Amino acid sequence: MVKLVFHSDIDYLEDWLPPLRRLLPELDAKKSADVSDPASIDVALIWTPPPRIEQYCNLKAILSLGAGVDQLDLKKLPKGVPLARLKDPSLTEGMKAYCMLAVLRYHRDFHIYERFSREGGPWRFDLPKPAAKRRIGILGLGELGASIASHLASAGFAVAGWARTPRQIPGVTTHHGWERLDALAAGSDILINLLPLTAETEGILSRKLFSQMPEGSYLINVGRGRHLIEDDLLVALRSGQLSGATLDVFRKEPLPPDHPFWREPNILITPHVATSANPETAAQQVVQNIERALRGETLLNQVDRDRGY
Ligand code: NAP
Ligand code: GLV
Repeated sequence: MVKLVFHSDIDYLEDWLPPLRRLLPELDAKKSADVSDPASIDVALIWTPPPRIEQYCNLKAILSLGAGVDQLDLKKLPKGVPLARLKDPSLTEGMKAYCMLAVLRYHRDFHIYERFSREGGPWRFDLPKPAAKRRIGILGLGELGASIASHLASAGFAVAGWARTPRQIPGVTTHHGWERLDALAAGSDILINLLPLTAETEGILSRKLFSQMPEGSYLINVGRGRHLIEDDLLVALRSGQLSGATLDVFRKEPLPPDHPFWREPNILITPHVATSANPETAAQQVVQNIERALRGETLLNQVDRDRGY
């Protein structure tokens, strides 16, 4: 019997249990609220840490329910327990669809026609720009950033990306290191943030970065809310330095009703729905990692806790 604790306020054990049990029939999984003996638990499958995580003193692995792990507050997790993040084909597919939709909305001026439609005209248009003339910059070229970069490049856009270390992606111009961030920004008519939130990347979407982007450019933030300096975005939008922003993630979620972003005409808000894991496809990695943890092996997609991703 393998004992697992499940903890999340946005995912449901009822969705995960059938696909997990199909692959690992001897699994005994409980929600954190139903665990009476935390010391008996082998593995945690969690979005955020369960209450009193220190009492789960025999954990062999912590498995994130998300691609990101910052919400787990790495410093507070028990030391020495390996942590893995989720890579899931459905999650990547969902992010590809979201980013393509958000890019096309700006590329084909739908954000403008949405306003004309609400306001009763005018009947006015600019001829569409060819995709090859629209430069898309992507911050982060990992599992998600690299897939989105290839997807947009194959749709004909001029795509560049930025990572910490050198990356090669066919059809995509790549940059790496802080000294190349300004080059990426300067060539981004639409900038998509797909970085993990770490001590290094927090606040990267700032006045400085916006001032390096072409005047009238657009931001799509699907990384984390704390990547963005919120007041800097409002200043950039109100001055026309940026023409619009599509935001899926926020410093505080749900976004409070009195937050100024709700009333900013050039911000499109989505409620952290860009993508999520599908238990039917992601269960395989979870079960492989449970088996690896029990054998004392390195996990798939194990997080480097010092690096933060
Ligand atoms: P990943 O595979 O770990 O990729 C991270 C990328 O960011 C890598 O290319 C990495 O560079 C780069 N990076 C990290 N720190 C950097 C730095 N200091 N400077 C430059 N580049 C840096 O992560 P992923 O699976 O693509 O996911 C990315 C993030 O998307 C997650 O952490 C999460 O926050 C967010 N996300 C959001 C949603 C949503 O619904 N909104 C859903 C899923 C994920 P190297 O390649 O050199 O390592
Ligand atoms: C969602 O935001 C994730 O990190 O998977």
